[in-house]
This record gives sequence, structure tokens and C-alpha cells, in this order.
Amino acid sequence: SSPLRLGIAGLGTVGIGVVKIVQKRAELLNVRSGREVAITAVSARDRMKNRDADLSGYRWETDPMAVATADDVDLYVELVGGDSGIAKDSIEAALRSGKDVVTANKALLAKHGQELAELAESLGRVIRFEAAVAGGIPVIKTMTESLAGNEVQRVMGVMNGTCNYILTRMESAGLPYETVFEEARQLGYLEADPTLDVGGIDAGHKLAILSSIAFGTQVDFDNVEIEGIERVSIDDINRAADMGYRIKLLGVAQMTARGLEQRMSPCLVPADSPLGQLNGGTNMVIVEGDAVGQIVLRGAGAGEGPTASAVMSDIVEVARGVRLSVFGQPATSLTAAQPARTAVP
Ligand code: NAP
Ligand code: HSE
Repeated sequence: SSPLRLGIAGLGTVGIGVVKIVQKRAELLNVRSGREVAITAVSARDRMKNRDADLSGYRWETDPMAVATADDVDLYVELVGGDSGIAKDSIEAALRSGKDVVTANKALLAKHGQELAELAESLGRVIRFEAAVAGGIPVIKTMTESLAGNEVQRVMGVMNGTCNYILTRMESAGLPYETVFEEARQLGYLEADPTLDVGGIDAGHKLAILSSIAFGTQVDFDNVEIEGIERVSIDDINRAADMGYRIKLLGVAQMTARGLEQRMSPCLVPADSPLGQLNGGTNMVIVEGDAVGQIVLRGAGAGEGPTASAVMSDIVEVARGVRLSVFGQPATSLTAAQPARTAVP
């Protein structure tokens, strides 16, 4: 069969990770995909930047749009980022020019996931985003495929590695939030806009995407109740430890009699529970289904290898010809979420 020709926009942490896996695992990926998977075009802003990968065999485009609409690209891999602008425009252009799309862009999906999925379906294309939630943990495919026979009752977890690193480090080193925040900045852990991490927004994006899949509702980020970790003090952490608890930025989504509850906030968890034993930048997602009971998924939520691993799972799925909706059901059949939250006048 014909090769699946990839166009990759974004050659940062994740994009270069994907290039490296395609190059290193070419034969294995071809066998697993049932066809050859080949990169034809790549895009980033600065052609002179040293990128730790050999890109000489690929056509270079400075504008992602040129990759998204190229005749020699079958699958557009959007790894630029941003909740609108070129990421959204190029994905729409790719779909409209007959391409499938893979993205890791949780901010974009939390804001525009419904409309993008509906557009893809209306055009007979697919959009895949395993890497958008909890990086390397295969949580989307677990929920849409492996748990397809379940009614999900609750989904929860630690979905921002940077916050978990900060909280863990405050606790282990006895350092105040401000000092550890600065350390995290020096180590390059923080998003360009750190509020996305420490304000709980990035984790809220991920929870909104998971809720949609879990409960068959449209992505409803606006009704995620969010509190970040900025006000967690070393005293809070020590008092929690005295009582046998740890503080985690925990996301919980559940369907209640009052509607869909989505919360992302610092919570006390028992120190000897799976969540309580989660250290550093690791993520954990816990899914409760009526048939399966509780599933605990744990792993790296960010970084080159783990995130590229998740992107590759989508690429291989598209190469195999899987056409199912990534929300576990057609986007057009998702109902509007009825938030449990009561608006304060
Ligand atoms: P990154 O390191 O900042 O890389 C972004 C890439 O996009 C760079 O190559 C940049 O070009 C290019 N780019 C940015 N704006 C552009 C524009 N206007 N036109 C053309 N190219 C542009 O980002 P990343 O960490 O790889 O993240 C990529 C996506 O994956 C984001 O949506 C992010 O949220 C998501 N994600 C990341 C992780 C992670 O661990 N990093 C985990 C999960 C999901 P230059 O290199 O020339 O500047
Ligand atoms: N800033 C995110 C985190 C990156 O720390 O988890 C992965 O989504």
C-alpha cells in the first residue's frame, strides 16, 4: 500500500521527539502500521536553530500552513501550540484539504475541540490527540477503546507534572513556593506563560477533554472550577503531612444529580494512596467504570520521549486506517454539558 506521508509543524520538544522516533524506529513502525510512514515536510520559524536531529531529507517550510495544505502530505501533525491562531488555522486548512490531523495541543482542544472534531467528521477526516492529556500515559485510547463497555462514573488525577514537581520539592526540601517556582523556571519546566501551570489552567484543559470523553458531553472548559497552587504554603504541606496526607493539584470530574462537576484544585490525599505516592513530574489518571472498577494509570506527563510516544500512537493508528471518533462517539452526538456549578450572581 502507499506510504503515509507526514507533515510535521513545530520542531520543538515534541516535534523533534517525533522526528527522532520516526527515524530510529522506521522498520518497526512500518510493520506496526502495515505501510511505510515517511516524513515529507517540516516547519518551524527559525531554520538556523540547532535541533539535535537530521532534517536534511525533508522539505522545510517556515509557514505551517504550507505543510498543512501540501499535496505531498497525508497526515498533518500540529506541534506548534497555542489555543488559536496558526495552530487552529492550519488544522482547519489541513482538514479542508483532505488530510487527517494529529495534535498534542490541549489548550486548543479545550477551547475549540468540539468545533474541530465536528469539522473533521463533516469532511470524513479524523483528528487524534493522545498526547494532549497526561503526555505519555495512553489515557485517551484507554478510555475510548479499552473501557468502551463501561459507563464512567468518575475520572480524576494529577495532570500537570510541573505543579507536582513544585509541591513535591517544597515538601522534600522544606522550601517555600517562591523558591521552588524559581527553580522550576531555571530548569525549564514552566510553560512560557507559567500561570498555565501553577494557575491550574493547563491541568483544567486536560480535565475538560477527559470529561468530554468520559461522559459523552461537549468539552466544557469554562465550567471547570479551577484553583492553582500559588497559595499553597509550606505550613499547609507540613500540617497535611502531620495528619498523614499530602497536597496534590487534583482534578476530579463526575456526573452528579446536579450535573457535571469538574474541579481542579489543591487537595489532601492520603500519603499511602497511589495519588499520595506520586512524586516529581509524574502524572496519574484514575478512571472508575461501572464494569471494570478502578483503573490507575501512571507515567510521564511531559517531555520529549513520553509526549512523542503518544503522538506516534496516533500516527500509527491513522496509518492503520482507524476512522473512529476520538471522543469515543461522534462529536455531533455529544450533548451540551449541564454544569453542576451554580453561578454566583
Ligand atoms: P515548543 O518546544 O515551544 O515548540 C514549538 C515549535 O513550534 C517550535 O519549533 C517553534 O519554532 C514552532 N512555532 C511556534 N510558533 C510558530 C509559528 N507562528 N510559525 C511556525 N512555527 C512556530 O513546544 P512543545 O513543547 O514541543 O509543544 C508542542 C505542543 O505539544 C504544544 O501544543 C504543547 O502544549 C503540547 N505538549 C507539550 C508537551 C511537552 O512536554 N513539551 C507535553 C504535552 C503536550 P522555532 O523552533 O523555530 O521557535
Ligand atoms: N506544562 C505541562 C506539565 C506540560 O507540566 O504537565 C505537559 O502537558
